[in-house]
Amino acid sequence: MKSGNVIVVLSLSLILSCHGSFVEGRRREFPQDFIFGAATSAYQTEGAWDVDGKTPSLWDYHTHTYPDSISDQSNGDIAADSYHHYLRDVEMLRELGVQSYRLSISWTRLLPTGFANKVNPAGVEYYSKFIDELLKYNITPLVTIFHWDVPQNLQQLGGLTNPLFVDWFEDYARVVFELFGDRVKFWITINEPKQICLFGYGSTRLAPQLNAGGVADYICAKTILLANARAYHLYNEEFRSKQGGQVGLAVDVPWYSPHTDTKEDEFATELQRQFDWALYTDPIFSDSPGWPAEFSERILNKSLSQGYPRSRLPPLSREEAEYIHGTGDFLGVNHYVSNRVSATKFLKEHAVPSTYDDANVGTTVPDDEEGWTVSEFGIMPQGPNNLYHVLSQLSCRYTTRYYITESGVPTGTGLNDTYRVTAYRNNLESVLNAIDEGIPIKGFYAWSLMDNFEWLSGYTRRFGLYDVDFTDPARPRTAKHSAFVYKHIVTHRHIDHEYDPAGRTMTID
Ligand SMILES: *[C@@H]1O[C@H](CO)[C@@H](O)[C@H](O)[C@H]1NC(C)=O
Ligand SMILES: *[C@@H]1O[C@H](CO)[C@@H](O)[C@H](O)[C@H]1NC(C)=O
Repeated sequence: MKSGNVIVVLSLSLILSCHGSFVEGRRREFPQDFIFGAATSAYQTEGAWDVDGKTPSLWDYHTHTYPDSISDQSNGDIAADSYHHYLRDVEMLRELGVQSYRLSISWTRLLPTGFANKVNPAGVEYYSKFIDELLKYNITPLVTIFHWDVPQNLQQLGGLTNPLFVDWFEDYARVVFELFGDRVKFWITINEPKQICLFGYGSTRLAPQLNAGGVADYICAKTILLANARAYHLYNEEFRSKQGGQVGLAVDVPWYSPHTDTKEDEFATELQRQFDWALYTDPIFSDSPGWPAEFSERILNKSLSQGYPRSRLPPLSREEAEYIHGTGDFLGVNHYVSNRVSATKFLKEHAVPSTYDDANVGTTVPDDEEGWTVSEFGIMPQGPNNLYHVLSQLSCRYTTRYYITESGVPTGTGLNDTYRVTAYRNNLESVLNAIDEGIPIKGFYAWSLMDNFEWLSGYTRRFGLYDVDFTDPARPRTAKHSAFVYKHIVTHRHIDHEYDPAGRTMTID
């Protein structure tokens, strides 16, 4: 086994020293080839949960079986009803003037048995028409193949804790590439591994609320890496030469920085990165294949000291590690949260075993520093220049290119979403800082195009540029102030902090 200390010293010094500082204060523009977009996912927007041959996903099953686990006992049965209103969705994208739309495919709308034995013609038609409508207006589809909605019958077989998931996913991905790859050139295999594995299997923060921490979440992580690799190799071997697209995955990357500049807090911060997101990205994008070293050593050590005869982290064989290594043309970065990390302070009691107990670091949000904001719900704190720091850390770690595939904030209802306006301006200034330094950041997708079903928070937390009236059967969409501000930035490729959206009417220019 490699020496943890040597690796730490190397990775920390790389992370701390590889970028200089940026220049502030002059008029700056986004490059002409920088892609602006907006994002959604199928379960959160489509509705039509059992229409035209679609069968239940994990999220249909969960919301119907455990309605009390959702803040407002709601579900995605109808959601924003994009199944029936996708033409209006494309119209909104044209109003914003964005170059790209990130949407996901519902696995059970396309493959009602979960397996690739039977393709649902109505599902093919829906996504085909949607994609064609986008292309008609030169809006590039960025299609997520899997955004959490596991077919419920596959979930009953263990979902991502069943190693056969890798086969099921490959078969599904092949159908998707075959059907849509002539027109879709930009793919995300899997969205947000941590939310699937740690939140869904390792705790109760998302469906299926399995709460088997420190075990199921690690099994799931290995499945994610192998499933992504299968889809990537499949694309290379059967589709890339004729379709010529790019394939990546989207990972939630918070900004973690040390609470103090001690070596202990710096090491704790690196541990937090590894346990939170780098377990999904180091094996693909770093120079050395396999799990991150300190992450894997710590779990082995803890497992043995807890009486387990072997590590709770499933090993990656040399062959598996090589198979996973390099399986991404780009890294999609979803970003919502900033935290400071401490080795000794803010520690909490956690279930044993669990990922949180294995990592055993404290996190906090400074209350005495300028530039930190938090939403009205007290969640999702954002630190100053957050996206710059995230991109800077990533580009020190990996040689690849980046897209911000989600960025946004929660608010309540209402069209005057001042907090969102400020957040988008700040986050995009932060992206400009990264561009200034030559970091290869190629695009930015606002989460979300419209208000939608926010998982266990139901409709109580809104992320949309467009408001959706969920009490009206027609689900009318109305531009919020943030939509006008985003449009202004997209159109002028420049952030005008004085631009006032009040009283304007949305049009297609
Ligand atoms: C493993 O645990 C022992 C005691 O539990 C500790 O002394 C040692 O430093 C740990 N090693 C690592 C790599 O964490
Ligand atoms: C929007 O809200 C902000 C802060 O809550 C307020 O200052 C501003 O006047 C409001 N604008 C309009 C047009 O209502």
